[in-house]
Amino acid sequence: MPNFHTQTLKPLSYPCTYKETTFSYEARSKRGNKLVMASTQGENILIRIHQKEGGELLVKGDKVTRPTQASFLQKILIDFRDASEAKEQFSNIEPKKFLEVKHSPYLKEIEFFANHFMVEREIWVEIGFGSGRHLLHQAKKNPHIQFIGLEIHKPSIEQVLKQCELQGIENILVIDYDARLFMEFLPSNVVGRIFVHFPVPWDKKPHRRVFSAAFIEEALRVLHVNGTLELRTDSQLYFEFTFSQMMQLSKANVQVKKNAELEITSKYEDRWRKMEKDIYDVTLTNESASLPIPKLGTLRFDECVDFSKVLDGFKDDLLRGDGFFVHFEELFEIDDKSGLIRLSFGANERNEKCYILIQEGKLSYLPDRILATKSNLAAHTLIKEWFHGICD
Ligand SMILES: C[S@@+](CC[C@H](N)C(=O)[O-])C[C@H]1O[C@@H](n2cnc3c(N)ncnc32)[C@H](O)[C@@H]1O
Repeated sequence: MPNFHTQTLKPLSYPCTYKETTFSYEARSKRGNKLVMASTQGENILIRIHQKEGGELLVKGDKVTRPTQASFLQKILIDFRDASEAKEQFSNIEPKKFLEVKHSPYLKEIEFFANHFMVEREIWVEIGFGSGRHLLHQAKKNPHIQFIGLEIHKPSIEQVLKQCELQGIENILVIDYDARLFMEFLPSNVVGRIFVHFPVPWDKKPHRRVFSAAFIEEALRVLHVNGTLELRTDSQLYFEFTFSQMMQLSKANVQVKKNAELEITSKYEDRWRKMEKDIYDVTLTNESASLPIPKLGTLRFDECVDFSKVLDGFKDDLLRGDGFFVHFEELFEIDDKSGLIRLSFGANERNEKCYILIQEGKLSYLPDRILATKSNLAAHTLIKEWFHGICD
């Protein structure tokens, strides 16, 4: 990930603009770490300045607000380095060829699916599309279908968006989101096929697998009658695990194949075939219509707080509920009336990392897109109680 090391940074007076980047504020923590809010072309990114032993400063994008297109972060870090006259000791932010920074209309944020997505035609979903070979092939072959590609690896996302532009493909929407959480955002009975090709097997950490009883249940809800959930894998263990999960259903139509040929092979498939590994397909067909579900929405605060009381009462704190947690990690002070709290919260196995911005007594999440899933809602209630405990 783009970052640079320096001994010194000239202080900026906030807010200020350098080239196309605006730096709005700086926040400092008691541990000596700093955050700078930077914006360019509608992207808001926190720069994190970490004080290393020996006084050296490591400057990088904060994970919480990292943009999907790495080139935005690169551009912002270059502007920050130049504005603060840093002398780099190590850097990987200068691209060999400066990438043109622009938004793709086909790259969507999760709020789009939570609030604006309209189902106008049948949807097919590919989970973990990697190099995108299968997704691009299917999209070209089926122009009447709306494809949704899910991936968490940013370079793969950039590569597929570029291919969509080069090949004039307009029926793929790409989202950088964990597939285990995404299905909650789709309406019931709208998906024709869900492809999960060569997922990471996670043999030692099965809870990180895309497939689980909860995932299969959500997949069946979004599939229309005769829609299919399709796993293709080289891992016998993953195949057996998925098959047994499907067999836990009270009624299931499952088809299994070994070494079946597809018209397109992915990068991973080519690799396994060269090694003469067996390939397994498990296809679950949905046979019943599901009830509609309400839209999820995002988490918001209504309460007002006194920042000075938060400053006095803050400590690194881990709170636990039934299957969820909240960890208040670090407080950053912008000035005596405003600041940021870094926290992680949510379901034990799928947590969110974010900040709470406190400004003029008002609280808001940063990024402002924490979705109201069941475990996030429970954690949000605990967070509100924590603020009441400190401020009331
Ligand atoms: C082994 S690769 C397979 C890529 C591609 N399907 C192929 O066959 O070449 C697995 C891909 O799934 C992505 N992935 C892993 N966990 C994911 C998750 N929870 N949600 C979405 N994508 C995920 C990884 O980033 C990776 O690109």
